[in-house]
Order: sequence, then C-alpha cells, then structure tokens
Amino acid sequence: MKKIFALLALALSVNAFAGNVEAGKAVAQKYNCAACHGADYSNPVDPSYPKLAGQHSDYLKHALTAYQRGANSSNGRGNAIMGGIAKPMSRTEIEDVAAYLASLNGSLVLRK
Ligand code: HEC
Repeated sequence: MKKIFALLALALSVNAFAGNVEAGKAVAQKYNCAACHGADYSNPVDPSYPKLAGQHSDYLKHALTAYQRGANSSNGRGNAIMGGIAKPMSRTEIEDVAAYLASLNGSLVLRK
C-alpha cells in the first residue's frame, strides 16, 4: 500500500512539471506562434522556420530558455526574432506551450 502512495505521489509531482496542454494552447495564441510556425505547427510559413509539432517538450523548453538567455550567455541561443518572443515568457508559459506543441501530431518524431 505504501508503495502505491509513493508511486501516486511521484506521478503527481512529475505531472506538476509537465505543463498544461490546454493552457499551452492559449499561450501559443497569446504570442501568435502560428504566424510563423504554421497553423498546425508542422508547415511553417518559411522553410527556414522550424517545425514544432510533436517535438519533445524538454527540447522545446530548453530552446525557449536558451533564447531567453541570449547568444552571449553560456548555453544560450541568439536569434533576433525568437529572443524577442521568448524573453517576456514566464516559466509556466514555457512549460505549458512546450506541452501543447509536443502533444500535436507532426512529422518530427516517430509515433508509437
Ligand atoms: C515572427 C516569427 C516567429 C514567431 C511569432 C515565433 N517564432 Fe519561433 N522561431 C522563429 C524562427 C525564425 C526560428 C529559428 C530561429 C533560429 O534559427 O534559432 C524559431 C525557432 C523556434 C524554436 C526552436 C526550434 C528548434 O528546433 O530548435 C522554438 C522552440 C520556437 N521557435 C518556439 C516558438 C513559440 C513557442 C512561439 C510562440 C510563443 C514562437 N516560436 C513564435 C520564428 C518565430
């Protein structure tokens, strides 16, 4: 019985960091991410813009955090467009939008 509670507690705590898909959809609308990354996040408006649908949420979180840090910071990423978009985003917004984009079907990863 103790084990079950431990597992349940673990599942709940993992979930607390996983981001909320519905809230993430609202974040994507708020920042108009689809304007560049495409309505389905799989067909960006320019071929040089990355596809986001189905990307691992950990990777998306990492990329957005790296844009916040900027090019001159260690492990940062410099981009005029994404730097401006990512900087005002809160930690929760990043986690939620990453969960939303990862939940979408896309051509980036093989689905089980
Ligand atoms: C004005 C156009 C534009 C908008 C709006 C935009 N992006 Fe981007 N995004 C880009 C471009 C261009 C890149 C590629 C930048 C680079 O080369 O690092 C990019 C890169 C990214 C990456 C890195 C992907 C990878 O494979 O490394 C992520 C994650 C991302 N955008 C998420 C978002 C999210 C989330 C939003 C909304 C909050 C958003 N973008 C809004 C243009 C945009």
